[in-house]
Amino acid sequence: MTRAKIIGVGAYAPKRVVTNADIAQMVDTSDEWIVQRSGIRERRLADETETTSDLAVKAAQQALERANLTPDDIDFIVVGTTSADMQFPSTANYVQSKLGCRKTGSVDVWAACTGSIYSLSIAAQFVQTGKYARVLCIGAETLSRITDFTDRATCVLLADAAGAVVLAPSPDASGLIDADLYSDGAHWELLYMPGGGSKHPASHETVDARMHFAKMKGSELFKVAVRMFTESAATILARHGFTAADVDLFVPHQANLRIIEAAAKRLGLPMDRVFINLDRYGNTGAASVYLALEEAVGAGRVKPGDLVLMAAFGGGVTWGAALYRW
Ligand code: ACO
Repeated sequence: MTRAKIIGVGAYAPKRVVTNADIAQMVDTSDEWIVQRSGIRERRLADETETTSDLAVKAAQQALERANLTPDDIDFIVVGTTSADMQFPSTANYVQSKLGCRKTGSVDVWAACTGSIYSLSIAAQFVQTGKYARVLCIGAETLSRITDFTDRATCVLLADAAGAVVLAPSPDASGLIDADLYSDGAHWELLYMPGGGSKHPASHETVDARMHFAKMKGSELFKVAVRMFTESAATILARHGFTAADVDLFVPHQANLRIIEAAAKRLGLPMDRVFINLDRYGNTGAASVYLALEEAVGAGRVKPGDLVLMAAFGGGVTWGAALYRW
């Protein structure tokens, strides 16, 4: 089967830097606590005028430029997000028109922070089957819009950014080897946003009860996340006859340094082969793996022929891993 190859990668983070000291002005926390428990030092938050699709478009434009393509070359757009511009139309729809792609289908993928791996895998199917030749795949979030800045459990972690890749048929063995997607709705209460959907339609009551913000049971999610990271990464490696020793770079979802360190240790992966940028960006949801990948490529951490492992977990719960030959 033809592999889907990344022919351009782009990213965008809003200009506004919010440090841990800034967050400590809003809730009862400290730089020391946030760094020790999560590894995050600062994050980027969108300004009032920036929407998720605005961030997505900037990342996509960079990816297209690097792929030497114009918007009209794109056959299909997949956007992973949990903080869409509106309930509908889809954020991908806005991206399509803002980019100026004509005759392009588009769809959003809702898989919380695993939106990166889900969107990559779904977009790759179109290329692998020969249905489309150029697919734009984006992870984009303005999680600050669904963050309660009076809730110290979540507001120290969540942030805004976008990342994008352009997929095309690979002429050789490089490209996406495989991707696994998982979910277990029994754990939905670990991370969710109750208000505004069909269960609790928006009303004065839902707004007064702050139901339009993300709710999280952090320490329970922590344990599930370490297990999900480890199992999905180990499974996909073993299926293709690889071990941790074969992995040149692990690009994990950037949620918490301690989660990543625990998973890397269980996998037997030294931290010098794990890419980390959450210290500067926080948890950017479906954007985080793309944002990290773009920085890793820019920093020369990924060379042709390298085996790149990606993995993510998120609300739902959802999780997944992808194996890519650069
Ligand atoms: N500042 C200071 N103290 C705090 C803060 C804070 N921001 N938050 C919690 N605490 C306190 C708690 O009240 C608790 O105090 P107590 O011992 O007196 O009861 C203490 O710190 C320890 O709290 P825990 O929740 O047990 O701390 P933990 O070490 O688990 O770290 C954290 C919390 C950072 C949230 C961690 O559990 C985590 O990262 N979990 C995973 C969350 C995650 O990744 N979510 C995103 C998923 S991806 C997606 O879909 C968006």
